[in-house]
Amino acid sequence: MNILHIESSIFANDGVSSQLSRALIEQLTQSNHHSQVKSRQLGAESIPHFDGQVLTALSTAPEQRSEQQQALADFADQQIEAVQWADILVLGMPMYNFGVPSALKAWLDYLARAGVTFRYTESGPEGLLKNKTAYIVTTRGGRYKNSDADSQVPFIKTFLAFLGIEDVHIIYAEGLNLGEGERQQAIDQAKNEIATIVTA
Ligand SMILES: Cc1cc2nc3c(=O)[nH]c(=O)nc-3n(C[C@H](O)[C@H](O)[C@H](O)COP(=O)(O)O)c2cc1C
Repeated sequence: MNILHIESSIFANDGVSSQLSRALIEQLTQSNHHSQVKSRQLGAESIPHFDGQVLTALSTAPEQRSEQQQALADFADQQIEAVQWADILVLGMPMYNFGVPSALKAWLDYLARAGVTFRYTESGPEGLLKNKTAYIVTTRGGRYKNSDADSQVPFIKTFLAFLGIEDVHIIYAEGLNLGEGERQQAIDQAKNEIATIVTA
């Protein structure tokens, strides 16, 4: 079982989403001793935006790319290969300014590639990243679960489903800035939920 672990907190190791997603990795690896984990902290990586230069590099034939374009295309390919390698995707996803962290959005932008991770068919789009499970730990200062103000969970579910990843589990830790009692309760509740997760 290959696990890709992506953290996106700007607080790096101190992020609540980092700590909870690590607890989840521990839980998954304890229940499956043959797992391999690759972990990344996007907050520390400075992922470049998926901009026009990247798009041009990808749409230029490999033999015609400049050295710089080849480097951009290689980086883009590596992001997709990392997800193709994984059976399980674990995302630490804090809420910042009502959305996903910009570093996480920058990374996700590399994953949608026509003909590689999705394709359009006569019956609509088809995701090409099959047989994968995603666990997403989302941490919030306030409370938004199941409300219209939760722009993160509908987005990430729609995005992953578009790529073919439909088995998505969300672990919430909400109310983290609503006082010490609520914070601790939210963290404990998320940890208890994580402790029940078992994979085949
Ligand atoms: C820049 C910034 C923006 C934030 N925006 C929101 C927000 O829109 N809604 C919310 O509920 N909490 C917000 N928070 C609080 C975080 O969601 C909360 O601190 C959470 O623990 C962050 O996860 P992390 O510790 O893994 O980084 C924000 C925090 C920061 C630092």
